[in-house]
Amino acid sequence: GRPRDLAGRKVVISAGGTREALDPVRYLGNRSSGLQGYALARTAVARGAEVTLVAANVSLGDPAGAKVIRVESAVELRDAVLSAAADADAVVMAAAVADFRPAVRHDSKIKKTSGEPEPIELVKNPDILAELGERRRAGAFAPARPAVIAGFAAETDDVLANGKAKLARKGCDLLVVNQVGEGLAFGTPDNAATILAADGSQVEVPRGPKEDLADAVWDLVAARLS
Ligand code: C5P
Repeated sequence: GRPRDLAGRKVVISAGGTREALDPVRYLGNRSSGLQGYALARTAVARGAEVTLVAANVSLGDPAGAKVIRVESAVELRDAVLSAAADADAVVMAAAVADFRPAVRHDSKIKKTSGEPEPIELVKNPDILAELGERRRAGAFAPARPAVIAGFAAETDDVLANGKAKLARKGCDLLVVNQVGEGLAFGTPDNAATILAADGSQVEVPRGPKEDLADAVWDLVAARLS
C-alpha cells in the first residue's frame, strides 16, 4: 500500500491537451492522452489528498475520489487552475497546453474557397505554469500557497540542460523532464523521466508505469510539504 502522506493536503492537477478553436467544428490540438495526469490523480487520492483534476479533452473515466473540472482551451484551463490553486498545497501541471491559439475564432464554419487558403494568424497563450510562480511571488494566493508548483517538460535533445533552463525560467519547484520518442510518453502506459528540483537535486525515474512516475512526484511533493 501507499503511504497516506498527502492526507489533508489539497492538490491540483492538470491533465490532457488543450484544443484551440478555429471555428465551431475545427481546432488546433495535440496528442496528449491525459494518462500521466490521471495517474497523478489516482495516486494522490490513494495517498490521502483532496484532488482537483482539471482535464482538457481527456477520454478517460473520472478517477474515483477526485473533483474533475473539464475544460477545452488554454484560457479555460488557466481560469480553472488559477482559481483552484488559490488555497492548494501543490499544483502539478501535467497538461499539454498549446503555446498559441488562432487570433480569431470564426462564428460559423470556415468555407472551402476555390483559391489559396487564408493563412491562420496565431496569438500567444498565457504560460500558466510561469504565471502560477509569478502569482505566488506576488502573494496573490493564500499565504505561501501553493507550497509546491511542479511542471512537466517533454524534450527531444539536451534534455537535462534544457530542463534546468526551463525550471529556472518558469520559476517552479519541480520539473519532470521526459525524453520523448522510443515508445514513451504520448499515449503509452509507460514513462521515464528525470525530476529536477529548484534546489539543484534530481531524481531519476526508470522506465515503468505512469503510476511509478506519479508516486515519485508525490514523494518529492510530500517531503516539501512536511
Ligand atoms: O514550455 P513547455 O511547454 O515545454 O513547458 C511545459 C510545462 O509548462 C508543462 O507543465 C505545461 O503544463 C506548462 N505550460 C503552461 N502553459 C503554457 C505552456 C506550457 O502551463 N502555455
